[in-house]
Amino acid sequence: MDNGLFITFEGIDGCGKSTQIKLLTGYLDEKGRDYLLVREPGGTVIGEKIRSILLDKENYEMSPAAELLLFEAARAQIVEEKIRPAVEAGKVVICDRFYDSTFAYQGVARDLGEDVVISLNDIATSGLAPDITFLLDLSVKDAFARRQGRGEADDRMELLGLEFQEKVRNGYLKAADKFGRIKVVDACRTPEEIFADIKAAVEERF
Ligand code: TYD
Repeated sequence: MDNGLFITFEGIDGCGKSTQIKLLTGYLDEKGRDYLLVREPGGTVIGEKIRSILLDKENYEMSPAAELLLFEAARAQIVEEKIRPAVEAGKVVICDRFYDSTFAYQGVARDLGEDVVISLNDIATSGLAPDITFLLDLSVKDAFARRQGRGEADDRMELLGLEFQEKVRNGYLKAADKFGRIKVVDACRTPEEIFADIKAAVEERF
């Protein structure tokens, strides 16, 4: 049986995660590797309900602490229900955002505290950590231009504006300094160039 591999993708809104995840799943299909693709917040029936509360623009009065705990609640559910069983069954698990998002968005950008978030992340995951995390790093200006190109309406988090995204980016870079599993990938290149780095790092793990 293959060993499980838990891969997460992170970055500010508009960093190009979806494109890279598509390229990675295409590569795994070609190789015939079994994988599970999930996203956070969400990925379970309970988690998708929590996601709609979190991203609903009408919920502008949500307190930062409530926001933090809801992200963690959705995470606890998906780890128990989907991620841990799949990794234990030898699958590759790809998660579109995981707990480094909480470190960057709630811990640093919302200023709820890095250590608080690290402790809650540990509770929500019962210690399950990604094997490798790709941080797609891009300037806030470039990421914003990409988001505009897509023409989608902003959700509650995206409405927080560019200054907030700048803090998130700094939070991610802080996480990358702290946690060796995070690989910073320069996302200001063509999708193919970016994917070449990702593919090389994944192949090293197989
Ligand atoms: P989503 O539409 O999934 O964004 P994207 O396509 O950019 O991944 O929305 C998730 C939003 O929630 C995004 O703005 C990041 C934010 N978020 C947090 O603030 N904390 C978290 O722990 C997670 C997982 C996401």
